[in-house]
Amino acid sequence: MSPMEREQRLRFLCLTEHDEQLLKALRPLFEKHIAAVEDEFYDHLLSFPETAQLLRDRTTVERLKKLQHDYLMRITEGNFDDAYLADRLRVGQTHERVGLSPRWYLIAYSQYFKIIAPLISGYYPDDPARATESIVALEKVFMLDASLAIDAYIASDRFRHLQQLERIVNDSADVIFSLDAENRFRTWNHAAETIFGWRAEEIIGKHFSVIVPPELVKAGELARIEDHVRQNGHDYLETERIAKDGCRVLVEITVSELRGLQGNIIGRSAILRDITERKRLEEAKLQAERLAVIGAMSARLAHEIRNPLSSITLNIDLVGDEIETLARDKAKDGDEARSLLRSIDSEVHRIQRVTEDYLKFARMPKLRRERVALDELLGHGLLFMKSLFEATGVTVNIELEPSLPSISADEEQLWQAILNLVRNAIEAMPKGGTLTVSTARDGNYVVIRISDTGSGITEAERQQIFKPFFSTKSGGTGLGLPLTQQIIIEHDGGIECESVPNGGTTFIIRLPLATEN
Ligand code: HEM
Repeated sequence: MSPMEREQRLRFLCLTEHDEQLLKALRPLFEKHIAAVEDEFYDHLLSFPETAQLLRDRTTVERLKKLQHDYLMRITEGNFDDAYLADRLRVGQTHERVGLSPRWYLIAYSQYFKIIAPLISGYYPDDPARATESIVALEKVFMLDASLAIDAYIASDRFRHLQQLERIVNDSADVIFSLDAENRFRTWNHAAETIFGWRAEEIIGKHFSVIVPPELVKAGELARIEDHVRQNGHDYLETERIAKDGCRVLVEITVSELRGLQGNIIGRSAILRDITERKRLEEAKLQAERLAVIGAMSARLAHEIRNPLSSITLNIDLVGDEIETLARDKAKDGDEARSLLRSIDSEVHRIQRVTEDYLKFARMPKLRRERVALDELLGHGLLFMKSLFEATGVTVNIELEPSLPSISADEEQLWQAILNLVRNAIEAMPKGGTLTVSTARDGNYVVIRISDTGSGITEAERQQIFKPFFSTKSGGTGLGLPLTQQIIIEHDGGIECESVPNGGTTFIIRLPLATEN
């Protein structure tokens, strides 16, 4: 405490030189009675479990009595200087350290009063005014001491709290760091050291871009994060960062504003989690799921092919018979034979369709991602289908959000997925109708909606449509929608279907925007 603060506190208490004189005059009284005062005080503390548990044994109590003796005697010396105040602060710290709640510490003073005040009154039997003045002077000192003890408690409490926070941040399994307003590192925890290989003392003061891959710096990722944080107070993104040794780390990051004591923004803090392993596991899970589906599909495929094959075999026999009849009976025309051949042809086509769809699904090539402008992909793709729309009486309504940021996608596969949905929509409107294709931005995602005005599907059908081999169309392979879903999932997106019987069907695709947007 500064001398000015001490001065201020004594003035507030109105602790004057006159009070000091009164206290000095009590010295003989204290010398005579102090041992009894201590006994009574500690008997009281020992009769309460909360305080008794801190007074472990007799020796502690004896030692404390001695310390209290010195304390009370010191009060009768007056001169409440810096050294006195520092000593009281230290005593407060001792109580805080031994785990004595400030509550007990403060109310113990009333116990002292209860014991000492009558002694003082008895000390001045003929001068009650002086007795009162002396009691009030003692009370002022006790209040001074109590206020200093509170200072000690508060200071140590805050210190402990800060220490705890520091430990939480430092020992967190997630990377936690903070940046100043110029994007230079201010703090860097242990996990950051482990994952990025930079020690705190090396990186503090360096610009944030040392952990950002150069292409992302060039693509303006930092400015985008800053903008987002400025607008929303925080930003969340999955992206890549770079370690000291050049290794890439896939991460999810939450960036938040960092405010100073006055509430002004002084930088940003970030919590970052290494998701390389999680992504690898997700990939492996996806692969395993695909293999499981392929396994199940193989059995189904064999079944799907067996039926048309036996029908083909039967029809071939019948064609053979028909040819023989034709050879014998010249009068007969070849209509029957031609009809049998047509049905063979249609069964062969079915086998072709099933095996093609199956192969597309089973051998889905790895994505070759590039930046794709969705409006161009949809605009061009739908334009090429113009004649099909005209032939089927479908009006196309395209509602693309202007200046939609690009996505990172395999253009060919994504178009395949969308094309499946567009074809489904056309098939759902055999008498013609309206196909609406729209795009919209939703945070870090783009949402594509493909709606038809066809007959719609039931809720039970809706729940099954992404299951392989489930089809609501006669002759459908039941592989188109699972393939579409697979492609969207591989693009880290999602697909949903909404349908109202007789009210049309809408497929909603969500795809993440390219991170450099
Ligand atoms: C009127 C209020 C009190 C005063 C003026 C007072 C005074 C003191 C003083 C002067 C010390 C020595 C500190 C040092 O030199 O670092 C001390 C220590 C201690 N006091 Fe108090 N005390 C008070 C209330 C209490 C209460 C209510 C308890 C409850 C049990 C308590 C328990 C202790 C303990 C356990 C120690 C530490 C003993 C050790 O060093 O092992 N005090 N106290």
